[in-house]
Amino acid sequence: MGGVFGKPRRNQSLQTRSVNNHLDLNEIYKGDILEDYRVINGRRYHNVQDVQYFLPLAGESKEKWRLETVSTVWKNAHDGRRFSAPIHEKLKKGARVLDVGCAAGSWLLDMAALYPESSFVGIDISSEFTLDEKLENVIYLQCNVLNGLPFHDSSFDMVYERCLISAFNKHQLIKFIEECVRVTKPGGWIESHEMEAKFRGEGPITKKLIIAMNEFLKIKGTDAQMFSTMSEYFAANGKIENIGVEKNSIPVGSWAGSVGALILETVYDSWISLKPVMKITLNVDDQEYDRLLEQIRSEGSKYKATYRTYRVFGQKVESN
Ligand SMILES: C[S@@+](CC[C@H](N)C(=O)[O-])C[C@H]1O[C@@H](n2cnc3c(N)ncnc32)[C@H](O)[C@@H]1O
Repeated sequence: MGGVFGKPRRNQSLQTRSVNNHLDLNEIYKGDILEDYRVINGRRYHNVQDVQYFLPLAGESKEKWRLETVSTVWKNAHDGRRFSAPIHEKLKKGARVLDVGCAAGSWLLDMAALYPESSFVGIDISSEFTLDEKLENVIYLQCNVLNGLPFHDSSFDMVYERCLISAFNKHQLIKFIEECVRVTKPGGWIESHEMEAKFRGEGPITKKLIIAMNEFLKIKGTDAQMFSTMSEYFAANGKIENIGVEKNSIPVGSWAGSVGALILETVYDSWISLKPVMKITLNVDDQEYDRLLEQIRSEGSKYKATYRTYRVFGQKVESN
């Protein structure tokens, strides 16, 4: 992977854009801001040495559409609830929330509009955040979370991540959870929303691609089990209690009507974005890969495929 994505880059210091009416960022800020990207097959990808995230930048039009579609379908699968931790009342009164790997901000901006008394900080390795002047309670910072979270201890009432952990190997995930705990206030909540690294009831070509994807993840040290066992990682941390899990099943394919068809398109688009790495893992050329992808579409109506998502939440213990 280093050969595809690796290249050194520079760091920057804190920018003045990061101050708003609700929160003086200097109270919590500690580290490292980045920029830059590279283009592969007409899509922009980040360009940060040693970072293994392999999907395009969230501001790419197709990727933005994909993330927003997934965000909406997953939210609807939870009856419109944006999170599962019991923190609604606190958010109404005013709390500090961090969204790690916020991308263009589909979760963060939605939450910021819903809870105007709370302050929201989004961080991401790419500078693809959607600007919205109406939301005065939002800060965005560009930084690499593999360098740690650039905030002081106990800065947030809630730390949230969604669809981020494919960017980590097992060791990095453990460190990441430690960092989330560190920056969460005692009694505050940490929440993760991920999809499992497999489908259920899928067709043979989809299965072939999923197996290749898992091989790719394994090569870079990412355990495919991580995605469905975050509650165990939370428990193993030792400083998270009251852990809860909400599972959901998301249909993939036109067999499940328009929502299933939409989700199949998001899956299809991910496979296009993953072409640079999947081609190598499957040992096929461009034409063969494109042929496989076309078959994925037809499998969407034939097989009743689904994938599960896991919302895992837990509370930072009150005392160390
Ligand atoms: C699949 S997207 C999910 C975005 C968003 N959380 C959502 O659910 O819509 C993952 C995001 O994590 C970011 N990311 C990956 N590795 C990162 C790192 N080391 N530091 C900060 N952000 C990272 C990517 O740039 C991308 O925007």
